[in-house]
Amino acid sequence: MSHCRPSVTKPRLAVEFAGLKLKNPLMPASGTFGYGEEFAPYLDLDQMGAIVTKGLSLNPKAGNPTPRIAETVSGMLNAIGLQNVGVEAFIRDKMPFLEQFDTPVVVNFFGNTQVEYAEVAARLNDVPGVAALEMNISCPNVKHGGIVFGTDPKAAFDVIAKVRKRLDKPLIVKLTPNVTDIRVTAQAAEDAGADVISLINTLTGMAVDVRTRRPRIANVIGGLSGPGIRPVAVRMTHQVVQTVKIPVIGIGGIMRAEDALEFLIVGARAVQVGTANFVDPNAMQTILDGIESFCIEQGIEDINDLIGTLEL
Ligand SMILES: Cc1cc2nc3c(=O)[nH]c(=O)nc-3n(C[C@H](O)[C@H](O)[C@H](O)COP(=O)(O)O)c2cc1C
Repeated sequence: MSHCRPSVTKPRLAVEFAGLKLKNPLMPASGTFGYGEEFAPYLDLDQMGAIVTKGLSLNPKAGNPTPRIAETVSGMLNAIGLQNVGVEAFIRDKMPFLEQFDTPVVVNFFGNTQVEYAEVAARLNDVPGVAALEMNISCPNVKHGGIVFGTDPKAAFDVIAKVRKRLDKPLIVKLTPNVTDIRVTAQAAEDAGADVISLINTLTGMAVDVRTRRPRIANVIGGLSGPGIRPVAVRMTHQVVQTVKIPVIGIGGIMRAEDALEFLIVGARAVQVGTANFVDPNAMQTILDGIESFCIEQGIEDINDLIGTLEL
């Protein structure tokens, strides 16, 4: 076969969807890349497809008590508690740094009520340097007994529709995997007006220190991320790509170029790298270089020719 492949020296890696123009399909996952500035000493932010910020709320949040992170056999558990500076401080103190780069800024956000979600979205809608919003629906709905918005398709639909009304920018809705059938929430998100779906957020988990007999994180239950969750994430990405018409961003356990390629082959238009950034702050550059080498090796002139080419 290889003698038929075109000789490629510089593959085209740019992808375009929902009005977003990305130099390549790689971006950090929210909460693992701070507000970008923290990673600037290690990575050229101009090389990234996009920058995705830590999740923002209307007011600053201090997060959960420590310990908030525990390493597991093939990943990590975290219960940071969505610590963040709040939307106003972000716009004032963090946006000027991010605007220096020729890289789209995706702002991740959340709320405790529908009203809060809509308020944060409306505030960010007025900020010219923000390319798109990523809505984290893995948050408890305080008005409705703490059930997580994203685990109830009706609650997900309602809150997404409220946000949609206040937002002109592209809306990425990030799904939680802690549901029986991810296709149902994905469909609700599309119906409510999402432009893009990203998935997956962390899987709920728990770990116990057998000597102290205490949970290894103070919040008792945390979110599992890292390479151990990747097969779940690839499966869910595949199912969602088959269900909705809108573009999908794949997330979960991407540590190497090959891992990112799995998501692209099942049909994700872009991918996010999370836990890998904690292992190696330069991981995204290494993954990007690996994707380029793979395209050269496989004679792929344009990464778009690889997306959604899963053979069944
Ligand atoms: C420490 C930590 C903080 C996170 N914070 C957020 C957040 O603020 N908003 C969000 O939508 N996802 C958050 N996530 C979830 C990640 O963005 C990502 O969906 C998840 O970790 C799976 O990807 P990974 O296996 O590559 O880490 C966080 C994950 C970690 C590990």
